Amino acid sequence: MSNPYVPIPARVEKVTIENDARDLKTFELSFLDPAMRMSYTPGQFGFISIVGVGEAPFGIASAPHEERVWFTVKRVGEFTTALHELEAGTRVGVRGPYGNSYPLDLMKGKDVVIVSGGFSFTTLRSTIAHLLRPEVRQDYGDITCVYGARSPGELLYKDELREWEKRTDLKLVLCADRLSGADWPRTEGLVPNVLKEVAPGAANAVALVCGPPIMIKFTHPALELLGFAPDRVFLSLENRMKCGIGKCGRCNVGEKYVCKDGPVFSHAELKNLPADY
Ligand SMILES: Cc1cc2nc3c(=O)[nH]c(=O)nc-3n(C[C@H](O)[C@H](O)[C@H](O)COP(=O)(O)OP(=O)(O)OC[C@H]3O[C@@H](n4cnc5c(N)ncnc54)[C@H](O)[C@@H]3O)c2cc1C
Ligand code: FES
Repeated sequence: MSNPYVPIPARVEKVTIENDARDLKTFELSFLDPAMRMSYTPGQFGFISIVGVGEAPFGIASAPHEERVWFTVKRVGEFTTALHELEAGTRVGVRGPYGNSYPLDLMKGKDVVIVSGGFSFTTLRSTIAHLLRPEVRQDYGDITCVYGARSPGELLYKDELREWEKRTDLKLVLCADRLSGADWPRTEGLVPNVLKEVAPGAANAVALVCGPPIMIKFTHPALELLGFAPDRVFLSLENRMKCGIGKCGRCNVGEKYVCKDGPVFSHAELKNLPADY
């Protein structure tokens, strides 16, 4: 029986600094043995490990069809600082994918509304890149995305966002809390307020939300006001984790394990759980 804790050997192929503060980097990884390449769906996460340092969980930012697996990581403590010091060519380990994904089947035939703030955009970037594939796009209705950050320099994947803004099959509204003279993006405002202004229809739609707790707190009433029922709103949680496979009890919210039952939950499910997230 294979050991679920054994990481798959991978190589860092590219490191991109994402923001002005230089504390957010995207790591593009490839697996040393292509036969061991991880297959995953948008919303899932994996653990990156560095020998002698440790490991930590991160949402998968690449889409399933993309050759390399991307993780976008904020430098906050010991492990993420060690990861930020790695350069292209370094070996790391990856285990996963873990958890459930965004409800791609439920979303079929419906409009999709994506709401995100700051660096939590990672797994939603995976979702959008997946939905925009020509062979997939036709299965979904209108796609609206409201994505914001404190300042323009903190938005992730800026080159790609500029390309996505030009598309006619995606309504992308980028915003920043403060524009401070910047000429891009053009909308100033907090994500929940901008969402209310954009006012995507809720009649046949599913909303996916990922962001800092304060954004989530104000996004729920905004979505409710727009007519989204709690079972049509999905959130991804990032509770502290150790094993990632439902063994250690580190990540639970009530009787649910975020690593195994989540990280994606509907707002209806979360309403019945203690607010340990
Ligand atoms: C399912 C999942 C997906 C995640 N996806 C991403 C991602 O895409 N990008 C990313 O940068 N991070 C992500 N995280 C958080 C990431 O795992 C932590 O930032 C990392 O473990 C910190 O390790 P560290 O040793 O550098 O910091 P530590 O020394 O462990 O902690 C440093 C600081 O960060 C805080 N912290 C640590 N873990 C978390 C957490 N899970 N939630 C909130 N605060 C935390 C601590 O309270 C402390 O203040 C995710 C976590 C989970 C569970
Ligand atoms: S992280 Fe161990 S049970 Fe979820």
